[in-house]
Amino acid sequence: PQRVLTGITTTGTPHLGNYVGAIRPAVAASRDTSIESFLFLADYHALIKCSDPEQVSQSSREIAATWLALGLDTDNAVFYRQSDIPEITELNWILTCNAAKGLMNRAHAYKAVVQANEESGEDPDFAVTMGLFCYPVLMAADILMFNADKVPVGRDQVQHLEMARDIAQRFNHKFAELFRLPEAVVEDHVALLQGLDGRKMSKSYGNTIPLFLPEKQLRKHINKIKTNLLEPGEPKDPDDSTVFQIWAAFASEDEAARMRKDFAEGIAWGEAKKQLFELINAELGEARERYNELMADPAYIESVLQRGAERAREYSVPLLAKVREAVGIRRMS
Ligand code: TYM
Repeated sequence: PQRVLTGITTTGTPHLGNYVGAIRPAVAASRDTSIESFLFLADYHALIKCSDPEQVSQSSREIAATWLALGLDTDNAVFYRQSDIPEITELNWILTCNAAKGLMNRAHAYKAVVQANEESGEDPDFAVTMGLFCYPVLMAADILMFNADKVPVGRDQVQHLEMARDIAQRFNHKFAELFRLPEAVVEDHVALLQGLDGRKMSKSYGNTIPLFLPEKQLRKHINKIKTNLLEPGEPKDPDDSTVFQIWAAFASEDEAARMRKDFAEGIAWGEAKKQLFELINAELGEARERYNELMADPAYIESVLQRGAERAREYSVPLLAKVREAVGIRRMS
């Protein structure tokens, strides 16, 4: 059967961008018994961007509760925490020794930090850690460890998937055909969800709409979405509007077409935002209640993750043994 895998870095509270880009498709996949799905909390990835221990652990809990609240099927899908699978970090090292430095030099995430440092006059050689530089290799280890075929992600991760393929190919060619070549799956109509200020919705830009905001807060956030100054009655361009973009990510095709027409006919921003609030609230309202219950029961979440780790290791232990054998890390007798 086909294998689907995806992860979320455990820094910060999950937002609508994570939801439409990764969580929603992954939850849908978890309920499809014709595929094997692997979903995980990328807590070692969190250490790349975050040196606040409380934040890393709090965010793991929030993200786990988010998946569960949204109906992840943990009997069908394997749901685990990256750091509970030691084989991933072992594989990470073996892959690191087989990944070209030049490949990593091209990573957008790393280049963006170098550029930001250059602009602010800091020395990137101090600011960039080896963790950040090698980030795509750890991500390749996450994916190759479970021989995933498909990886649902937002557009910002597509380059990392290409790198994972490259690393897998190189390994297969050099040692043994042990890895499937993974493919990114990007939801077409979603692309990259925009945040309050119109840039990509991202924890690092502080422009997010957190997924399980209380109703009042959700309404407030939606009201803050930047719009141009067009008045009620003036035609508005849906393709140039964050309000419409988020609408389209939540609405059915018919509803999206209807809103497109309303934009052309000059719907007032206040009205469009009110409808957007209602749409999102209807999709997430029930899950928000379950989320609040789960957040009050960390022991339950932990037990789910422990069971997931056991199941994940049924795959990772034998594959790592083959990888070690292939590269010559062997017992004497
Ligand atoms: P992370 O934690 O930054 O984001 C998690 C997922 O959410 C998607 N995403 C978005 N999609 C649409 N619109 C947005 N504004 C938006 N913002 C984020 C991301 O593309 C991602 O799919 N390195 C990964 C985590 C990771 C991973 C993996 C993913 C580690 N190992 C293996 C897949 C497979 C990351 O930092 O995602």
